[in-house]
Order: sequence, then C-alpha cells, then structure tokens
Amino acid sequence: MSSLPTPPPPATGTTTKTHVTTSPVISSFPLFSKTFKKSSLKSLNHKITCNATSDNNLDRRNILLGLGGLAGAVNLTSIPSAGAAPLAAPDISKCGTNPLTGFKPDGTTPTGGDCCPPDSSQIIDFQFPKNPTFKVRPAAHLLSPKYIAKFNLAIKRMKELPETDPRNFLQQAHIHCAYCNGAYTQSSSGFPEIEIQIHNSWLFFPFHRWYLYFYERILGSLIDDPTFALPFWNWDTPAGMTIPKYFNDPKSALFDPKRNQDHLKAVVDLGYNGSDSATTDLEKIKNNLAIMYRQMVTNATDPTAFFGGEYRAGSEPIRGGGSVEQSPHTPVHRWVGDPRETNGENLGNFYSAGRDTLFYCHHSNVDRMWSLWKMTGGKHKDLTDDDWLNTSFVFYDENKNLVRVYVKDCLRTTQLGYDYQRVDVPWLNSKPVPRAPRSGIAKKLAGKVKQTTDVSFPVKLNKIVKVLVARPKKSRSKKEKEEKEELLIVQGISYDSEKYVKFDVYVNDEDDDDVSAVADQTEFVGSFAQLPHKHKGKMMSKTNFRAGLTELLEELEADDDDNVLVTVVPRSGCEDITIDDIKIVFA
Ligand code: C2O
Repeated sequence: MSSLPTPPPPATGTTTKTHVTTSPVISSFPLFSKTFKKSSLKSLNHKITCNATSDNNLDRRNILLGLGGLAGAVNLTSIPSAGAAPLAAPDISKCGTNPLTGFKPDGTTPTGGDCCPPDSSQIIDFQFPKNPTFKVRPAAHLLSPKYIAKFNLAIKRMKELPETDPRNFLQQAHIHCAYCNGAYTQSSSGFPEIEIQIHNSWLFFPFHRWYLYFYERILGSLIDDPTFALPFWNWDTPAGMTIPKYFNDPKSALFDPKRNQDHLKAVVDLGYNGSDSATTDLEKIKNNLAIMYRQMVTNATDPTAFFGGEYRAGSEPIRGGGSVEQSPHTPVHRWVGDPRETNGENLGNFYSAGRDTLFYCHHSNVDRMWSLWKMTGGKHKDLTDDDWLNTSFVFYDENKNLVRVYVKDCLRTTQLGYDYQRVDVPWLNSKPVPRAPRSGIAKKLAGKVKQTTDVSFPVKLNKIVKVLVARPKKSRSKKEKEEKEELLIVQGISYDSEKYVKFDVYVNDEDDDDVSAVADQTEFVGSFAQLPHKHKGKMMSKTNFRAGLTELLEELEADDDDNVLVTVVPRSGCEDITIDDIKIVFA
C-alpha cells in the first residue's frame, strides 16, 4: 500500500500545468533570489489572480482505492455516491455522542465530547457578503494604542457573552477542540466510524482560514466596527519575534495566565525543541529567518508540499502535514504553552489552544503565509483537486447562524473582504548557507554507515538514526529539476499523539555523534513537529515527513553523488517513534 504524500497523478489535472501559463507575471519573476525586492512583491500582489476553478475529472473511486489510509474495516460501497469523496461538514447534533467519540472526560484533558457547540438544526449556506467593508489585518507589534483598545474591547465583550452563546469566547475556543480532538466523526460523509481531524493534511490552511474569518466578523460586530481585522503575530520578522507586549498586561482581556513565563519577553524559537537552548537572541533570529526560508521556499515547492497530503472522506490524515504547519506553526504553539500545566495549556495543546487570544494572531500570520506563498512562484498555486475544493465545515457567524462553508470559497482573501498589511519579508533573503560543502561524503562513509537497504525497518527513533539513502537519479538536467523536485521522504512515522513530538532532519552532515549544522546552514533539511491531541482509544498516529532536496544538494556540491547521508535527530517526545522507511523520490 502506498502511503507516500505524493501529489495525485498528473492525469488528474491536479498539477500546476494549467496554471503556469495563466500567470506569466508570476512564473517569470526572479523569486527568492538574492535580488528580490519587496516592492516587486507588492506590485506582484496586485496582478495576482487566483484561478480556483478545476478541470479535474478524476475518478475519485480510484483514488479512494489507492489510498493507503483507509482503515481495513471501511467498506467502499458505503460511500454515498461517487461524488461524495470530499469530507462533508460534521453533523454537530452528533458531536461527542457517537460511540466512537462519546468518551468520558478523564479529569485532566477535556476530550472531544466536552467541546461540542450548541446544537442547531438550521444550517445556512455561506454567501459572500454584499458590499463588505474591506479589512486590512495589521501586524500585531505595530498596532496603535487605539487599535489595541479596540481589540481588547472586542475580546472582552466576547468573554462576557452568555456561556451558551455560540459567539462566546470559550465556545469559540471549543471549535478548535471539536475539530481536532475527536468530537466529530465523518458520519455526514458516510463513515461514522472515522473521526475528523483537520490537522496534518491539506485541510489545515482552509479550516483555519474559515475559523478566523468568522471569529473576526464576530469581534467586529461586538464593537460595531466592520473594519476590525485580526492582527497577525509577525513572528517571521525580527521586530515581531516577541509576544506583543499588550498580551502580557494582566488587566487586559488579551491576557492569558497559561503561558510559558520564561517566554513572555523572549525572542520566539521557530524551531522550539520543547525546552530552551543556550542560543543568543541574535542566533535565534538568524535561525528563525532560515527556518522560514526552508519551510516557505525549499520545502514548499509545490502545492502538496505546502498544503499537506490529501485527506478525503473515509480516510485519516496520514499523508503528512504541509511544511509551514509542521514548523514554524507547531513549535510556536508549544513555545507559548505553559510547561507548568499538565498538557502544555493553553497554546501547547490542540484542545486548549483556542483559549489563548494569541492563538488567533498566531493563526492570522499562518494564514498570511498562505497569501505570501501564492504571490511567489510558478508552482505556488492552490490545489485544484475537487475533493479539497468541495470539503465543507460549519461555523457560527456573528448573527448566531450556523453556516456551511466550502474550501473553494476561501481561496482569495480579497473575495472574503480582507488582506494583510504589507510589511518586510526578510526571510526571502535568508537562504541557509552550507556548513561544509563537499561531494562524496556518502561515498566516504560507505561501510561505516548503513545503506537503507541494509536497515531492518521499522527503526526506532529513541536515538539518532543515520543512514545512507540511494538517489534513484543523480546529476539531473535543469529541465528535469524544474519539472520534478527531488524529495526526501521519511515514511510511516508512528508517534504518540499525546506528546509534543519533534525531530530534525539533516543531510550530509558528517559529524560523528550528533550533527553540527544549525538551522541557518544548508545541511539542516527541516523539522517534523506534532502538537499533542487526544484520539479515541489510540495514542499512536501515523504520518509522513517530506522535504525538498534539489537546491540543497546542489549547494552542498553533492548533486553527482549516488547516495545522501541522512541524519534524523530526535528532539522531543521521540522515545516511541518508529519509522517505516527513508527514501528519495521525484515528484
Ligand atoms: Cu489548529 Cu495552530 O492549530
């Protein structure tokens, strides 16, 4: 069974073929080069049109059959119809009461059943607002005192709403818990035995975009200000890398006592390993910018890499989350969460994350990454798979109506009536540099380090794993490289979903015991990171990690090598991780 996070086959129309030609401005743009100008990004932005339509006519049944994640028990004939493969919005009347998810709270961690929204039998379909007031989401560290007061007041009013009001602060926080901690099953798609999990897959970006969209509208209506826009925590620029200070005022509605007390004024660590390291602020800033470059550029060369693996009705999200979801998104959650709390509450755990106001500013910036990514580069397009586009969710709006929304309607922020303040994007010029470029490293180690073919998988990650991975092809032409990215796949990662899990991956870093490269060096490939969450009855989850190698190997002068030395370094919660395979593919 294949469980690779590869994009669907080209024949489906899911590749970018149709799009590249529609945007000559974008594809000819010298992106991410050292000469990149912010002003170009700005003008580029105005030219961008996002074509969300799909000429996709794949046979979804075939895709389902090909899915590695189908639980053995799933009966394919129970798919309501051939067109029902997108995940349908959950039936909230069944929230937490399903035998699968109706489990009792264990006293410490609320489970799915504890975060169900008020029921409503009335669902209305989303309509784009007529003549909406356009909103510009501002950088959180640049807010005027007036704007801070407005934000504060809106949150205060949200907290004062009756507990049963779906717009109430805690009710809104529960949305995140319900969609991530097993409260909902795929019953409306015909799979009552499979739960809904909107992380670790291509649903990550659209789900959170819709979530924030309604949150922002509710806040605006509570202060009667249709221009109110959710600030973004600008952790991708040096001046924005601390928690904006007004969040630390105990008298403010934005305050949350459950945050790591050592981090209230510290520079954020976008590669947080679960405990603080001795890095200086300057090094941290450099590493942060390099991580941004890695995750937004090197490891996000195509839509699947950026958005994450496919996730359709009848399956679980096992193909892996997108680059930005893994990091910096997840480490930032954990970095803010309070280590004094059992489960890293609030931001450090899925069930409680929405209880910290900072969550919404964190995700506003995550959402901004989606917008930035699309402005930059020929293959940087939304997915065109019908099942992605037709996935639906439900949210309560500012009038307490339960609204059904589709992924296809959230692809253009301007259509939803908002955009982001233009600020510097310094990581575009923060490409990591090689620590020790040298060809033949893998060859030199032959005999000392095992080839993957000699390793008996699955391997445990309770210590550093070092292997030589064969490259199916080397010295590819420029054209070949443009067409397909060389991808490193860490496949079948089985991990404890109740822990903060993180490991880092390096190539051709020859150090004997550990690795020497840091995040701003080319040898650092990327991080796998998971925020804790509960599942019914099972703790182990399975997924994949993938990273782009094409540019990296060129810079390490290793493009003509037969093998790559891969080092996987456990950083947090990896004691019981096993890995099914490590390999290189082209996609
Ligand atoms: Cu739904 Cu930042 O997680």
